[in-house]
Amino acid sequence: MLADKRILLIIGGGIAAFKSLDLIRRLRERGAHVTPVLTRAGSEFVTPLSVSALAGEKLYQDLFDLTAEAEMGHIELSRAADLVVVAPATADLMGKMAAGLANDLASTLLMATDKRVLIAPSMNVRMWEHPATQRNLATLKEDGVLCVGPTEGDMACGEFGYGRLAEPMDIVAAIDAALSDGPMKGKHVLVTSGPTHEPIDPVRYIANRSSGAQGTAIARALAALGADVTFVTGPADVAPPSNVRVVKVQTAAEMLDAVMAAPAADAAVFAAAVADWHVANAGPSKIKKDGNGLPELRFAENPDILATVSQLTKGRPKLVVGFAAETDDVIANATAKRLRKGCDWIVANDVSPATGIMGGAENDVTLITADGSEDWPRMGKDEVATRLAQQIADALL
Ligand code: C5P
Repeated sequence: MLADKRILLIIGGGIAAFKSLDLIRRLRERGAHVTPVLTRAGSEFVTPLSVSALAGEKLYQDLFDLTAEAEMGHIELSRAADLVVVAPATADLMGKMAAGLANDLASTLLMATDKRVLIAPSMNVRMWEHPATQRNLATLKEDGVLCVGPTEGDMACGEFGYGRLAEPMDIVAAIDAALSDGPMKGKHVLVTSGPTHEPIDPVRYIANRSSGAQGTAIARALAALGADVTFVTGPADVAPPSNVRVVKVQTAAEMLDAVMAAPAADAAVFAAAVADWHVANAGPSKIKKDGNGLPELRFAENPDILATVSQLTKGRPKLVVGFAAETDDVIANATAKRLRKGCDWIVANDVSPATGIMGGAENDVTLITADGSEDWPRMGKDEVATRLAQQIADALL
């Protein structure tokens, strides 16, 4: 998989930089070409000569290296690669990436690239756990940056915890996965997930118990098959996957807007538990207990996003998949729902409290298509996602 792939390897300044030498060796053993970029701090830990000798390629260090600009500008350098890898990714580099700074060669390449970026963080455990680093990591994941490690263990600074650079072979595996051509490569899939929050006033809202676990697992499974995924999520309990385009919304109306604004999709999976109603008389200020009786909320119906997309006459995805969370007559209700909404498949599940499915780790689903229904055994939400993603891939062939 790695043969003849071009990796642009940015080596940040950390004690683990020496491991990047081993990484270069292992990548080259597998036939990859490594173009190394060494930050100024990185050159305090490994020498430019050892990096370029191992890579067998010119080493890039300075943004204003005029020879390099004459040979290959930084824009071209950032795009000639199949994948950009940052190892070790220091707290400083992650901060620059998250903030969009471009004040040296490494950060400029990371801003200019149109390729996927994989980071392998490495830093002191306190720095890793610092809210700023975790905030930056969340931002980078939202931007679609892939991440491998860090791992837990003894650190060069004498402390113990998370912050060790992933082992070179694990980084190689992550690079391999990032470059692999899955069956969904070139396909764009839209996934909605999570609950929606419908405001009553600026501090209160109406919501439901969806954790977002199933939708998140589906987005991750589709991305693992190589799909380009747009993940439109309400305020979920679980973090979005790392390698998808995340669009965060609060209300059903915002979810519809985000779905309609997304690029044309080959398939769409509507796993969100969209609130059926919003409060039509939601106020601009907090409702007070002023002794004048209880507030009266007037409800208005929310747009049905699944039905809207299923019934598009122009730009309808080839395959539209909805969910039917039911508590009674699951199959009959879900079968009727498939026809009413106009989607191709419905994933039906029983969300009666006794099943423990809502908010739990498992799901027990029946896939309903035009050809009938297929009862799947109870399994983990991740397994449901993998199986559904595979069936979507088969249907799009
Ligand atoms: O009608 P019901 O809410 O049971 O339909 C469930 C399916 O419809 C799910 O796929 C859900 O994501 C989708 N849906 C939607 N917009 C709504 C309500 C439901 O996309 N307003």
